[in-house]
Amino acid sequence: MATINLNINGKSQVVDVDPKTPLLWVLREHLNLVGTKYGCGIAQCGACTVHLEGNAVRSCSVPVSTVSNKKITTIEGLSENGDHPVQKAWLEHDVSQCGYCQTGQIMSAVALLKSNPAPTDAQIETAMSGNICRCGTYLRIKDAIRSVNT
Ligand code: FES
Repeated sequence: MATINLNINGKSQVVDVDPKTPLLWVLREHLNLVGTKYGCGIAQCGACTVHLEGNAVRSCSVPVSTVSNKKITTIEGLSENGDHPVQKAWLEHDVSQCGYCQTGQIMSAVALLKSNPAPTDAQIETAMSGNICRCGTYLRIKDAIRSVNT
């Protein structure tokens, strides 16, 4: 066990955990930030995507000890009331079906639009290719991302 200082959604948090614990489980089980989902646990599905210093990362595969004092943002920290432009676009386009993967999808979309505010369809497909949706909402995801810039 180790005491680890975290900066999550603008707040300082201290956890006592095995330093190898994936960030995903610290978020969900120690900090009750359950918007970040567990899908595969092996960095293949994107359900666990959060931002680390503004970049999309797979929290299931990030040992918590490696992110001490780095800026972490989860879906809960994206906006006060679910009113981030990407969240609003998701609602306007009825993107979600079962919804399980959607927080990860939104976090990846936000990271994409931050680095590239007007992505082409090909750039959207490439950036979002690591986020799997078993309901097949890909076309609505693409429409929503496009609409943020129109
Ligand atoms: Fe992390 Fe699937 S749960 S990528």
